[in-house]
Amino acid sequence: MGKLKIGVFGAGRGMSMIHQLLGHPDACVAAICDKHRPTLDNAGKTAEDVGETVELYENFEDFIQADMDAVVLANYAHEHAKYGIRLLNSGRHIMSEVLACANLAEAAALIEAVEKSGKIYNYAENYCFFNTTFEMRQRYQRGDIGEFTYGEGEYIHDCSSIWPQITYGERDHWRNNTQSTFYCTHSLGPLLYSTGLRPVKVQGCEGRRGEFMKNLGARAGSFGIEMVTLENGGICKSIHGGLKREPGSINYQLYGTKGCMETDRWNGGHLHFYRESDRNCIPGEILDYVPEFTNKDAAAAGHGGGDFFTTHYFIRSILGDEEAKKNAINVYQAVDMTIPGILAFRSILQGGDAIEVPNLRLPEERDKYRNDTFCTIKSSAGDMWADPMSMQPDKEPTPDEVYEEVRRRWLAGEPG
Ligand SMILES: NC(=O)c1ccc[n+]([C@@H]2O[C@H](COP(=O)([O-])OP(=O)(O)OC[C@H]3O[C@@H](n4cnc5c(N)ncnc54)[C@H](O)[C@@H]3O)[C@@H](O)[C@H]2O)c1
Repeated sequence: MGKLKIGVFGAGRGMSMIHQLLGHPDACVAAICDKHRPTLDNAGKTAEDVGETVELYENFEDFIQADMDAVVLANYAHEHAKYGIRLLNSGRHIMSEVLACANLAEAAALIEAVEKSGKIYNYAENYCFFNTTFEMRQRYQRGDIGEFTYGEGEYIHDCSSIWPQITYGERDHWRNNTQSTFYCTHSLGPLLYSTGLRPVKVQGCEGRRGEFMKNLGARAGSFGIEMVTLENGGICKSIHGGLKREPGSINYQLYGTKGCMETDRWNGGHLHFYRESDRNCIPGEILDYVPEFTNKDAAAAGHGGGDFFTTHYFIRSILGDEEAKKNAINVYQAVDMTIPGILAFRSILQGGDAIEVPNLRLPEERDKYRNDTFCTIKSSAGDMWADPMSMQPDKEPTPDEVYEEVRRRWLAGEPG
């Protein structure tokens, strides 16, 4: 059998996967699609520089006709389900960047497309594959801290300095229009991945939109919080967004009935572990250490090594490796990591009410949400659009000059 032929849709973030696929022993980059010509040409040149020929497409309709076994979806965050379903229906395996879908109706449709196609769906939630978070999963699954009681996940990332480079001065860019709680996957994902538990209820709240983001054209509150109840009654706090802190904070804590473990806010790569002895409050074991990666090739990869494993497990899963299938994130888990952020905004609009998170593994649950297009992106919301600024005190429309200035900075390579 020849190498797996993989297409990459979106060549911004998609470059991370392209780099890993070039020269790969089991897979190659067959085609790349990006409507922005300079971005596409840059990706093509990267392949050419290492002697690989890749077909380049500006248009998805042409790209989907290309000779490919699988596709990496690194296009806009709210359009993964829309294009992913078409690719699954055309017989391709897919790996989706975050997030999995824009609304609940898409979540149900995506799950059904995966089930019907029988193809591999992997979710590229790379924060689950840090040396620390993966170790938390291993330890939790071994029973090292007992049963989950409480967890915190934190993804504090002030993107203001790179806003021109990631929104291009486009008023309609998803980053300017998604609600404060949308991007919940990096904070919540590793907690769900470690425990293997399903979310059943969510309450949301959000911070004010900071002036520094208003001046860059963002419309939502600058940070969002989801309080998520899991199926065993344990509770997670997930917080994400732009708060003033450098470097940003990527941090996780898991408490169980016998102990706890947490990553280190200032000392990345460290894991702290506590296990109680057989007497209350008396320590049995206390550790502070740097867990090893399960694959040494990960050490040099982006996002603390996590970028390596998403693509690695995708390729290995397609090739039938059962261990990879077990560690990769499937469509049900992807939806579990995504929809609390959509429903948390519904909660915010209802003054913080607890909202049920459905189990879309069950066909009867899907029926209830099949037409639920509630979201803050107009093109995905149909008649269920919610303004991401709904609860913000300042609802003034952003003047065109703001976007023109952000665009100017993007083209000039200036920070935000
Ligand atoms: N996991 C991570 O650590 C991580 C980091 C950054 C971005 N992301 C995700 O990666 C995805 C892409 O993000 P990005 O930072 O590259 O920014 P982006 O969303 O602005 O870029 C998407 C790219 O896809 C192209 N594109 C979008 N729709 C297209 C279409 N219909 N036809 C052709 N080309 C199209 C755009 O031209 C652009 O180059 C997002 O889903 C984002 O959430 C994940």
